[in-house]
Amino acid sequence: MAEFSLPKNSKVGTGTSWPAPQGASNTKTFKIYRWNPDDGENPKVDTYTIDMDDCGPMVLDALIKIKNEVDQTLTFRRSCREGICGSCAMNIDGTNTLACTKYIDDAKGDVKIYPLPHMSVVKDLVPDLNNAYAQLASVQPWMKSESPPPPDRERLQSPDERKKLDGLYECILCFSCATSCPSYWWNSERYLGPAILLQAYRWIVDSRDEHTGERLDDLEDPFRLFRCHTIMNCSKTCPKGLNPAQAIAEIKKLLVERQV
Ligand code: SF4
Ligand code: FES
Repeated sequence: MAEFSLPKNSKVGTGTSWPAPQGASNTKTFKIYRWNPDDGENPKVDTYTIDMDDCGPMVLDALIKIKNEVDQTLTFRRSCREGICGSCAMNIDGTNTLACTKYIDDAKGDVKIYPLPHMSVVKDLVPDLNNAYAQLASVQPWMKSESPPPPDRERLQSPDERKKLDGLYECILCFSCATSCPSYWWNSERYLGPAILLQAYRWIVDSRDEHTGERLDDLEDPFRLFRCHTIMNCSKTCPKGLNPAQAIAEIKKLLVERQV
């Protein structure tokens, strides 16, 4: 693998290099994007070489080890450590994915770690998700129903109705898909992007929801939905193996079908 280097015109500088601990024979090097809004400096890439005989197998294990033992200023989000909360999404070796489910050994050379692309950065590996969560709120991701529930039980679904939610309810809102999408990069203020559209579709196809028409009306817009150009990066990158591109295609199909 070619040695890691930044493009010549990059504003990202080469930062501090932290050597392997003395005596370590099985080492791995991590090149990690660093940016602190409070120091007035340009971003940089710090280099950490750690002892793999004393580290768990996942990229998140390495990040936690670095923070605990080498450099406490390194900042990243994480919570569940098992691919459930979505908070550790970042760009690892050029792919958006979850640090907690990504094996360090998948990287042949140095492990390059950046924040999710094309998002404002709060600090280091932490992207600003305010816009994404405002977009989520805009699709009202909860069941909306006027009819009262049965007095003695929950609202039931048939097995077929329930099956329509498979491949949708598993989304952990990590935004790996949205931040791999060029349409979202260029229009993230107005295009909802694949993560939010998958969430929107999850409620459109829920048999218990009674606002399907209104939900579709809300998406029938050249930007909110139709900035999707079926590039498919979203489905390729989803670390949960979901297919947001298909969910978007299904929404488009429903919009066409209701016109005929
Ligand atoms: S669809 Fe996949 S990549 Fe996109 S937010 Fe959900 S879990 Fe993450
Ligand atoms: S820490 Fe929760 S998904 Fe990685």
